[in-house]
Amino acid sequence: MTHRVDNIEELKPIIASNRLPIKLERIDGNWQILSGTGGLVTALAPVLRHNDGVWVGWPGAPVNEELERLLHSSAADIGYQLKIVDLTEKDIERFYRGFSNEALWPLFHDLIDHCSFDIKHWETYQQVNYKFAKAIADTASGSNLIWVQDYHLIMTGYFLKEMGFTDNTAFFLHIPFPPQDIFMRLPWRQEILEAMLCYRLIGFQTERDRRNFVRCVKALLPEAQVNQRRKYQIIKYNNQLSRIGAFPISIDYKSFNDDARSKDVNDAAWYFHERFPDQKIIVGIDRLDYTKGIPHRLLAFENCLERYPELRRKITLVEVVVPSRTEVPEYQMMKKQIDEMVGRINGRFTEGGWVPIHYIFGTLDRSELLGCYKASEIALITPLKDGMNLVAKEYCASHVDDLGVLILSEFAGAASRLDCGAILVNPYNVIEVADAIFRAYIMDQSEQKNRMRKMRSEIRRNNVFRWVEQFVATFELGDENGYGKADLPVSTSTPQQ
Ligand code: G6P
Repeated sequence: MTHRVDNIEELKPIIASNRLPIKLERIDGNWQILSGTGGLVTALAPVLRHNDGVWVGWPGAPVNEELERLLHSSAADIGYQLKIVDLTEKDIERFYRGFSNEALWPLFHDLIDHCSFDIKHWETYQQVNYKFAKAIADTASGSNLIWVQDYHLIMTGYFLKEMGFTDNTAFFLHIPFPPQDIFMRLPWRQEILEAMLCYRLIGFQTERDRRNFVRCVKALLPEAQVNQRRKYQIIKYNNQLSRIGAFPISIDYKSFNDDARSKDVNDAAWYFHERFPDQKIIVGIDRLDYTKGIPHRLLAFENCLERYPELRRKITLVEVVVPSRTEVPEYQMMKKQIDEMVGRINGRFTEGGWVPIHYIFGTLDRSELLGCYKASEIALITPLKDGMNLVAKEYCASHVDDLGVLILSEFAGAASRLDCGAILVNPYNVIEVADAIFRAYIMDQSEQKNRMRKMRSEIRRNNVFRWVEQFVATFELGDENGYGKADLPVSTSTPQQ
């Protein structure tokens, strides 16, 4: 069943995210705008359309008059307004590549060795967050839900509060929130926590992230008062009450389930199998990112071929790596490392026309993607840490035959929901992952069905529309339910180590 968010009329929502939910393409020297297709935009677009909403963000390209006009006029096709935040080269360098992707991104994924902290990046991060707050404030008349997305825009809450927006702001963190001992390394840890507490509702992907956040608040802001409610917590800090909850994001299950039955997808799946006759296909799909654990996964696959020689010529790993953040040096190095590893492993094991790893560096269109999911007997999704990982959910939603085995990292947010059917692994343990591949390879169909049905039913129920509903419902809890006398914090927290 598809959920629709009808209970939030009159909300006049404003969504803010670093990137606008559009794809810009230059065709014959002219810009073309395509609406984005990710889970977030699929779920939020109807809400914006029905409620006169606005999406605030960076278009991903330098803004000139032509682009501005086009973005303005495309509102009619998209069905809601787009409000542009223009970023300068310096902003992109220091706010986006610098603070967002070289400080917060690795820190929040527990990968401290990848962090670089630079005061200039931090200053620009604040300036750009101010720009976002200003753009939101300029369009906010009558809006009673300002919903800010992800780690690029944490400080926006602070500036919005300064501009007088105190009771209509919400924030969702799409990436993990790190444990206290890791978060403590951030030179601006206090400012970041205080800015988060400027939002009236703060959503995390999992209970683990929510717990980590609350522990950091207790340790760093001892005057904050924390009060437990049944499904969320309330923190009172600096005369502001914030609700804190876990809302695991999901996908549009129905669209994957329906499209996976289409002729185009069946053709694409058939084509995949034809390319690898008599093989079981293992699929791995990720953005090129060091958090995704691609080198560890390749080592595990190599170890599997080494220790289970009977699998040689019987399995092929289709590893799809989607280019991302290509201007960040770390990402360029990763690409080189993956290319070399694939070359080495293929060089070592290729025999009689069988090549163990089929490596695609690029993007698949939707039919190819679903065809690839459907054709793959096994999905190997082993991030070192991940906020959620929607590929895991898409793989299951596309397996309309209830077959297929999901091997999933225990450090992906998705594991907290899909532990009912996935084989959970520690992605750092190459031997454990190799054994999981063998176990998946020999798993009989009745066990596969039993596991896959449970995961599909979990994703069907907790789809992305339900995610929006639950987030908004928690935001909307009235004063008497949420912030009334009964809710006033009763205990002063003690720092926890
Ligand atoms: C992650 C983040 C998103 C981000 C996406 C793509 O999923 O949570 O906020 O948009 O990566 O990264 P990019 O740097 O290309 O925007």
